[in-house]
Amino acid sequence: MIQPVLKLINLSKEFALSHSFSALRSGKLLAVDKVSLEIQPGQTLGLVGESGCGKSTLAKLICRLESPTSGEIYFKGAPLHALAGEDLRKLRHGFQPIFQDPFGSLNPRFTVFETLAEPLRLFGFPSGPNEVSTLLSTVGMGPELLFRYPHQLSGGQRQRLGIARALAVQPELLIADEPLSSLDVSIQAQVLNLFLDLKDKLNLTVLFISHDLRVVSHISDTIVIMYLGRVMETGPARELFQEPRHPYTQALFKALPKMAPGRNRQRAFLQGELPTPINPKPGCRFHSRCPNAAPICLQYENELEAVSATHSVACCRWKQLETLNFATAP
Ligand SMILES: Nc1ncnc2c1ncn2[C@@H]1O[C@H](COP(=O)(O)OP(=O)(O)O)[C@@H](O)[C@H]1O
Ligand SMILES: [Mg+2]
Repeated sequence: MIQPVLKLINLSKEFALSHSFSALRSGKLLAVDKVSLEIQPGQTLGLVGESGCGKSTLAKLICRLESPTSGEIYFKGAPLHALAGEDLRKLRHGFQPIFQDPFGSLNPRFTVFETLAEPLRLFGFPSGPNEVSTLLSTVGMGPELLFRYPHQLSGGQRQRLGIARALAVQPELLIADEPLSSLDVSIQAQVLNLFLDLKDKLNLTVLFISHDLRVVSHISDTIVIMYLGRVMETGPARELFQEPRHPYTQALFKALPKMAPGRNRQRAFLQGELPTPINPKPGCRFHSRCPNAAPICLQYENELEAVSATHSVACCRWKQLETLNFATAP
């Protein structure tokens, strides 16, 4: 059996609320709640959910920038959740983050050359001008940019530099947290195409995080839909388009402008804001916004149930709900 590059088992992160955070609220904020998933070599998994549903926290847990409250993280079989210090450092080059805001994650005092030479040197790779120029060319940038500072680059160039820096240490897994969100719409397509090229050329495994289902559907083999820290539905991208089963997934598809021409023009979408993840009540997390909610939905939290060998949904009423096919969409 092929070993997944990344495997999460019941991964959870609770933040304790301090008094300064809110004098009236006490208790726990469940940012990530028993998330299990795996990504096979060379595959791209798209993680989608509204802002605040725990996507960045999940990315930070995987990169071990935050420690999990419970659960397990395996990178090529190595238990990252149980490692620290030198043992963790030795594996770090294998999984690299790409952040939403390249400006915030690049050192403003480093030129392009220094930004890329530093990780090469740190991980023992040759770090001369030739190596750095080659690396820069893999993200479509020329050597004339080598001695520019981040503020002298465009938004798209800065994100390309962020991607080059992640690639410098030859990772197998990229964890890209909203890598397009800070870019102009016209540049987003270029950087998305760069991801598509790179993942094929370098045989990368990618966790691609976005609040935008359309972006994720372009790049992903598998999609995971997250809501208030929990996985609501997961399956191959194609199967999810053909048969989204969770009312939340269906609402996300319906909200996409051209997804169902002539049929769902009303753009039905979710009413109200995302509820708070503080001290969540029993029952399905989505029930307060679900058009299909019934009394049973308040009784217990749904575990993922198999719709097919590869497709699972966490909704106790999925068998009674209409399926909608969005596969004809552009
Ligand atoms: N360090 C922290 N302390 C307390 N709460 C946090 C912290 N980081 C994130 N949160 C909360 O966890 C939830 C998930 O946040 P986040 O992972 O950033 O979501 P997303 O990336 O999907 O927008 C939010 O309610 C956020 O306020
Ligand atoms: Mg985020």
